[in-house]
Amino acid sequence: MAHIETINVTQNRGETASAGLVAIGVYEDKSLTDLGQALDEAGDSVLSKAMDLGDVKGKSGETNMFYINGQRILLIGLGKKNKFNASGVRLAAGKASRAAISKKVGSVAVECFCSGLESCQAMGEGLVLGSYQFLDYKTKDEKNFELKSATVIGCDHDEITKGTAIGKAVCFARDLANHPGNVTTPSRLAEEAGEIAKEGGMKLTVFDRKEITAMGMGALAGVAQGTDEPPKFIVLEYFGSDESQNPKILVGKGLTFDAGGISIKPSSKMDEMKYDMCGSAVVLGVFKALAALKPKLNVVGIVPSTENLVGAKAYKPGDILTAYNGKTIEVLNTDAEGRLILADGLSYASKHYEPEYILDFATLTGAVLVALGHVAAGVMGTDEDLMRLVKESSVNAEEKVWELPLWPEFCKQVKSKIADVKNTGAARQAGTIAGAAFLKEFVGDRIPWVHFDIAGTAWGGKPTSIDPKGSATGWGVRLVLDLIDA
Ligand code: BES
Ligand code: MN
Ligand code: ZN
Repeated sequence: MAHIETINVTQNRGETASAGLVAIGVYEDKSLTDLGQALDEAGDSVLSKAMDLGDVKGKSGETNMFYINGQRILLIGLGKKNKFNASGVRLAAGKASRAAISKKVGSVAVECFCSGLESCQAMGEGLVLGSYQFLDYKTKDEKNFELKSATVIGCDHDEITKGTAIGKAVCFARDLANHPGNVTTPSRLAEEAGEIAKEGGMKLTVFDRKEITAMGMGALAGVAQGTDEPPKFIVLEYFGSDESQNPKILVGKGLTFDAGGISIKPSSKMDEMKYDMCGSAVVLGVFKALAALKPKLNVVGIVPSTENLVGAKAYKPGDILTAYNGKTIEVLNTDAEGRLILADGLSYASKHYEPEYILDFATLTGAVLVALGHVAAGVMGTDEDLMRLVKESSVNAEEKVWELPLWPEFCKQVKSKIADVKNTGAARQAGTIAGAAFLKEFVGDRIPWVHFDIAGTAWGGKPTSIDPKGSATGWGVRLVLDLIDA
């Protein structure tokens, strides 16, 4: 766990005098932000002169380091002034953190170059996200430097506090996923849920293998048959509002390692299947933020969790399992296990609550990577209004989604000849939609629902100043927090 823990806010520019690095901004029209102007005057117009030479263009993403009176000044390009928004603030803030880490300065000060309150939140998020590093297993690496705090000059205090909490929740989700399968086990997920429950005054219920089986969660129990690692069914309840307000429910796939089962995966890159619990990381990440922000909302988080391994007791292709809602499932591929454990999660959510809506998050199909790469999550659902809200929050959080059609033609493809449904669709066709079509069978009628297939976005995308190279992204935490209006 290495990232900024606290961000101080000051309205006093004088406090930058002792900072090891001061980050300021410049737009494409060559206008400097306020503190920048003051520093330029104090520093013999060194910034203006660099602009005159054409070396500083103010393009977004550009950074230049100056040294004024012995102090590091990072000049960050902000792009066109009229196009500069919260997402620009987030990325620029990330640059400031990255620069502080590369220069190993613990005292970084950043000028508020925000255009409004939302942007101040983004400033907090960006500073924390840019400071994220996963260093837990480097026992003696002197090159490592952890950035623990930052100071922002001129931002709104409450919005920075909110942004910091959200950034930390995303880092928490990244950490859960980056830890290997022998550390992030179902038991570990349950323990982390316990910590969150304590922090946020929430109710936690965890069912173990015996209870899962006795309660009739045959799909989760079926997948968990092949591993000695104890499976868990985790329920976190946050009731920050009136009990009468219907809860928003988040369900996340907590598959802590996916070998594919008897329908085993190829060995190349199988290590990446430690990330198959990223759906559960979205849910727990959101609850981490709820514990800190304590909004007036009712939210329930559900995480079915197990490994999917190969062994003498493992479930087999052809097996028929009965899910928590009583529907029977013909297993045609043991590697399509995510939808099985979610079937019980969604059934439980539909039976025990009257949800305002259900969202589920899962690294469900390789097919979504073929369709959308690491750029966008595939979304499918049953309610146009909810889908519209999802798309709006996707824009606000700058976490891209793309809707795929859940047409009846696809829903028919998961009907089984001998059971109610089967866990595969048409061979090599519309695999991501088949996943959603299957899940739909376990969502109660009339409950608005959206499924997020995050197999492409949860890790391995193009690195940016706020997104890591190769590893877990924590994708979705920010989108959900915007959507539920935390
Ligand atoms: N966890 C995988 C999906 C996955 C694959 C995520 C690659 C990230 C990268 C999931 O459990 C799975 O194996 N899905 C199968 C489904 C198929 C057998 C119907 C897949 O996508 O191949
Ligand atoms: Mn699988
Ligand atoms: Zn999986």
